Amino acid sequence: MPNPGGASGAPRYPLSEMKRVLGEQAASLIDCIARRAQDKDLPLYLAGGVVRDLMLGRRNLDLDFVVEGDATAFAKSLTIDCGGTLKEYKPFGTATWTLDAPAADKLTLATGETPAHVDFVTARCETYAHPAALPAVSASDIQRDMQRRDFSINALAIQLSPAQRLEILLDGCGGGDDLKRRLIRALHENSFVDDPTRILRAARYASRLEFAIEATTDQWMRAALPLLGRVSGQRLRNEIDLILREGRAGEVTLRLQNMGALAKIHSAFRVNSQLPELIERCNEITPPWPSAVVDRQTLRWITLFTGIDADEAQGVCERLALTNSLTRSITSSARLGAQISRLEYRSLRPSQITKILDEFPDIALQAAWLLAAENPQAQELIAAYASDWRQRVPSTSGNDLKARGMTPGPRYRRILDRLRFAWIDGDVRSVEEERQLLQKLLDAAD
Ligand code: CTP
Repeated sequence: MPNPGGASGAPRYPLSEMKRVLGEQAASLIDCIARRAQDKDLPLYLAGGVVRDLMLGRRNLDLDFVVEGDATAFAKSLTIDCGGTLKEYKPFGTATWTLDAPAADKLTLATGETPAHVDFVTARCETYAHPAALPAVSASDIQRDMQRRDFSINALAIQLSPAQRLEILLDGCGGGDDLKRRLIRALHENSFVDDPTRILRAARYASRLEFAIEATTDQWMRAALPLLGRVSGQRLRNEIDLILREGRAGEVTLRLQNMGALAKIHSAFRVNSQLPELIERCNEITPPWPSAVVDRQTLRWITLFTGIDADEAQGVCERLALTNSLTRSITSSARLGAQISRLEYRSLRPSQITKILDEFPDIALQAAWLLAAENPQAQELIAAYASDWRQRVPSTSGNDLKARGMTPGPRYRRILDRLRFAWIDGDVRSVEEERQLLQKLLDAAD
């Protein structure tokens, strides 16, 4: 971990090291941005997670720049000079610069090897009117910006401008030491009171980095658990969404369950003890039928809900302010999961399975198949339905029935279904047999 004190005594993070860890292209992008800030004599820092990861030798192209001054104006000047597009969030003093091919060209960078976008934020301090409130933000300096952060390991910055301060490492909160000691440490007693979502973040970083949560931080965290009940669904959803994108999502969630955090979010929020294995399956295995998309993040959300009773899933979805579409995927999967565990496979014909599964969207079938690894019979039937039975349609159509003089009505559906199910069960094997069955059905109805 490079941290040699220079002649001036200030610890430094050499740009050569940055180049080694991030790659030539990303380092050269950082260099271009630094030079532009130096030309304006504007104090600029690379800060937060990317610095933590640089010091751990981990490649992270999520570049966050902090500006002591107007970050959006600086980002705008980059866009004017180099192209690309800018999204400003004026009230927060932040801007995201998205590099397109012409912008990369202008900076003589190879597209595809540089970050697709970079974030700029004005150095700020935050005050919280009450526990779990959204912070009031005001412009500040880098020291106070570091002190407002969640953990010491994220309160690190490398100065890039002005030129005479290039490479200086700002580590006023002891993050460098905590990286060496492999500790997640909050910066003050009220950290989790101000922002209880940090409880979820601590668990996420601890699992990802294989760090321990420092003892006092752990006490502060536990004391703040009840405040999770006051956090908005949207903020919790965002944090859980990040957790589910982690390699060890199952482990993180179980850790949160064991410390009682999930129950504080919603009394019915429980996860399955098999979650790590189940999520791994969602990450690695693809159901054996062609689907338009395999949306792994939705599959992970569905898996997260496998410890929750089907009739309680809706309430937890509402608490987490999940979108209607994700809620539908989760609740339909919960209903399907409950049905599958009750099915008497041996006594059911393919048409009966089809009638049950016709009610469910493809994502619920994918999830049910993935989660039924211990139940090969169920897997086989789901796969047979999804790849074969679901597609079966009789050769007879509504128009054919009309041509035979039938008045349109619910009888159409009943007859067409009977024909379809006869194909699925193998009772009909040719168009001629279907025609005979149709005649029988029409005669019986007369
Ligand atoms: N931050 C914080 N409290 C939060 C969220 C974020 O103090 N509730 C700070 C942290 O210092 C973090 C920075 O804001 O480093 C940026 O947030 P985010 O992008 O979520 O974190 P990263 O560290 O960039 O991303 P990650 O560590 O997940 O790779």
